[in-house]
Amino acid sequence: MNDLKDIIKNRRSIRKFQNKEVSTEIINDLLYSAKWSPSWGNSQCWELIIIDDEKQKYNLSQTLTKKNPASLAARNAPIVIAICAQKKKSGYYKGEAITKFNEWFMYDLGLVTQNICLTAHCLGLGTVIIGAFNHNKAKKILKLPANYEIVSLLPVGYPAHSPSPTKRRKISTFVHKNHFNFPK
Ligand SMILES: Cc1cc2nc3c(=O)[nH]c(=O)nc-3n(C[C@H](O)[C@H](O)[C@H](O)COP(=O)(O)O)c2cc1C
Repeated sequence: MNDLKDIIKNRRSIRKFQNKEVSTEIINDLLYSAKWSPSWGNSQCWELIIIDDEKQKYNLSQTLTKKNPASLAARNAPIVIAICAQKKKSGYYKGEAITKFNEWFMYDLGLVTQNICLTAHCLGLGTVIIGAFNHNKAKKILKLPANYEIVSLLPVGYPAHSPSPTKRRKISTFVHKNHFNFPK
């Protein structure tokens, strides 16, 4: 349990990477942890695109604004995983959305992504989730069919820096008992 707590607590977003290849064995470990993620009705709507082609990484990095702190990470990481989903699977039953939120793919992809990030950290690798980019441009670059969406980009590689811990809210400020309690 302490190991897991440490892995969860010490994972940081990594935006600078060593020029060191990520082995197929490691990529397979990351994919294994993705495979065993929970999902809506076990719908497993995810599609993961592993990008190691320099031109493709460069093109994707151009979909981020220059101000995005991860703009260089998308270009310089040895691999980038595009986290994509098939639409109308997660949150749907017999083709109909069954909750007020309709699509649940964002939720399922979040779980897949966290599994990959924690596994990567456990294996000595770093990741950064990138959500702020031009999704339509990236969709074209990745040749995704219309009924699929790309949600995030995940550069993966050996860290070239070790960022300080980031701040978190105190548990007491986000836990409610029996019903919503307004902050005092
Ligand atoms: C859904 C999501 C989208 C994110 N998008 C970006 C992004 O576009 N660029 C970036 O540099 N970091 C991005 N991040 C990373 C967060 O900034 C980071 O997780 C947060 O500041 C906490 O830092 P830590 O991951 O080191 O604990 C994103 C994180 C999440 C969960």
